[in-house]
Order: sequence, then C-alpha cells, then structure tokens
Amino acid sequence: MKNTHHDIPSALIEALRNAQRVVVFTGAGVSAESGIATFRDALTGLWSRFDAQALATPQAFREHPDIVWGWYEWRRAQVLRAAPNAAHYAIAALQRHVPALTIVTQNVDDLHERAGATKVVHLHGSLHAPRCSACGAPHVVDDGPATVSSVIGTHAEAHAETHAETRAGSNADTYADTHADTHAASNADEGRRIPPPACTQCGAPVRPGVVWFGESLPSDAWSTALHAAQQCDLLFSIGTSALVYPAAELPQRALAAGATVVQVNPNATPLDAHAHCNLHGAAADIMPRVLAAAFDQRDEGLKGDHAP
Ligand code: OAD
Repeated sequence: MKNTHHDIPSALIEALRNAQRVVVFTGAGVSAESGIATFRDALTGLWSRFDAQALATPQAFREHPDIVWGWYEWRRAQVLRAAPNAAHYAIAALQRHVPALTIVTQNVDDLHERAGATKVVHLHGSLHAPRCSACGAPHVVDDGPATVSSVIGTHAEAHAETHAETRAGSNADTYADTHADTHAASNADEGRRIPPPACTQCGAPVRPGVVWFGESLPSDAWSTALHAAQQCDLLFSIGTSALVYPAAELPQRALAAGATVVQVNPNATPLDAHAHCNLHGAAADIMPRVLAAAFDQRDEGLKGDHAP
C-alpha cells in the first residue's frame, strides 16, 4: 500500500471497513505523547546513568532494590499524572466500529483503559499491580492525591537524601555515584531511591507487577494475544520498536496467517520490510485520521469524550 503525505491509503480504509477481527498491538510510542518516556529514550534525572533494560531485570532488583523500586515508583507517578492521548482514544473508539477488537499492549500503564478500552491484554504486566517477590501476594498501592508528590519527592527531600547518602557512602556498587546523585537530585522532579515495602503476608520485598527481561510472559495474556493475532484479518502495530520477543512475534504471526499488517511509527523498525502499510508519523496524529477516514467521523478520538 502507498502512503502519500500521511494520507490514509484507500486499501487500508477498505481493509478496516471489511475486517471482522482486528488486533491493535501497541508499545511505548503510543504513550509517548502522554509524556511517558519510551524505552529507547535516554533516561533523565537520577536515572540518567542507568540503562532501562538493565534496570528491568530480576538481577537489578535483587542487587539494588531501592534503585529499581524507586524507578518504577517514579514511572508510576508519571503515569498517574498523565492522561490518555488521541491515539488511546482512537484505539478505544475502534471497539464501536469493528465486530471484534483485541487490544494487546506491551505497556505497563493503564492509559488504554482510561481512554475507554474495555478489554486490554497486558503482555508485560502493570505498574499498578505490585506483588510480593517471594509469595506473590498482591500489594495494595496507595494512588491517593499525595502519592505523586511523595513518590517524586520535594526539592528539600531529594537534597536531604543526597546529603545523607553522601555522608553514609553508598554500597550500590556499579550503580552508585554520589556525585551524579548530588547533581541529579537537585531537580525535584527526577526521582529518588525508595526501598520496596515489605509484604504484609511474609515480609519479603514487594516487587513491581511487570515482566522483566528474562521472565516469562503471563501465559493467559500470551495465549490470548497469539490466538487473536493468528485469527485476525487486520493487525495494527503501533508505537513499538518490534524488537522485544516474544511480543514482537505477533505481527509476524498475523502476516503468516494472511492478515493485513499496518504499522504506525515515526521511525523505521524491522517490521517496515514486511508490513503491508507503514504510516510514518505519531500515533496521536495518525490513528484519529485512520478512524475518520474509515468511518467518516471527523473528530473520532480527538475529544476524549469516552473517558470514564
Ligand atoms: P520501545 O521504547 O522499544 O519503542 C518505542 C517505539 O515507539 C519506537 O519504535 C519509536 O520510534 C516509537 N515512537 C516514539 N514516539 C512515537 C509516537 N508519538 N507515535 C508512535 N510511535 C512512536 O518500546 P516498546 O516497543 O514498547 O519490556 O518496547 C517493548 C518492550 O521493551 C517494553 O515493553 C519493555 C522494553 O524494554 C520490558 O520491560 C520487558
């Protein structure tokens, strides 16, 4: 399919109108315009000398629980402050237009749901469902109004913590650099180390409810996603680098099963060479226009009027 100046190709419009089963497969790029950093963006603040992929591992949590828990709490606070963008609303609106829609996301935020998506398959877990690292008991998180500021910290708190750390020294080995902390913590909005809470059942540290590198995907979520990809007529791959497996297999499975695969991404990915249609641009720009072109609803996805 050809895509000229971001016009939506007529073959895509036809395919979407005729599709019985559609899969929307999303990654961090869908939430980028809600202010949530993707995994390919450089980390900032306290986290700027860390590699996201090194922090998202069981080993990092074992060795440096306060750094990893602090990072996830900082990301969770970002999500609590964020709002769905036009891409989330357009994707949720697809529910009303296609007979069967399965939304499969690698994202650990809840912005699809907050845009009105009723059923979302989370392949990589959720920031909002921490659990005990030993017994697996769910841990209730406090998402009250004070949470964001308490997680991110105030300038004074961050500064005081930095001085305390500098005095006490740090045993965080490779991750530790008190000079970098002093510099980073001078901005109140840039995160801090937080020890994970203890499980109320067994006392072991609570861990984020996400899938880390080296861990298996939740089997129900994966089998639902795989089944949907293999049965669909049309799959959108939106805002994902298509690099992290097994999730990145989904568009390939859909292609192998004969589905039309459409990619939405401002940058090139390994899927470019295989997708039937590559719409190069921001999801929040393109997805509302896809909906409008296919279903003739000009303001589809732009108003956010389907939010709960
Ligand atoms: P990545 O951070 O790897 O890729 C984000 C993609 O979004 C890139 O291809 C960007 O070009 C694209 N992008 C950026 N802004 C966009 C926009 N406004 N509209 C559309 N696309 C945009 O994120 P994922 O592919 O989701 O796993 O990463 C997959 C997994 O790798 C994550 O779930 C995480 C990660 O490391 C784990 O933590 C296990």
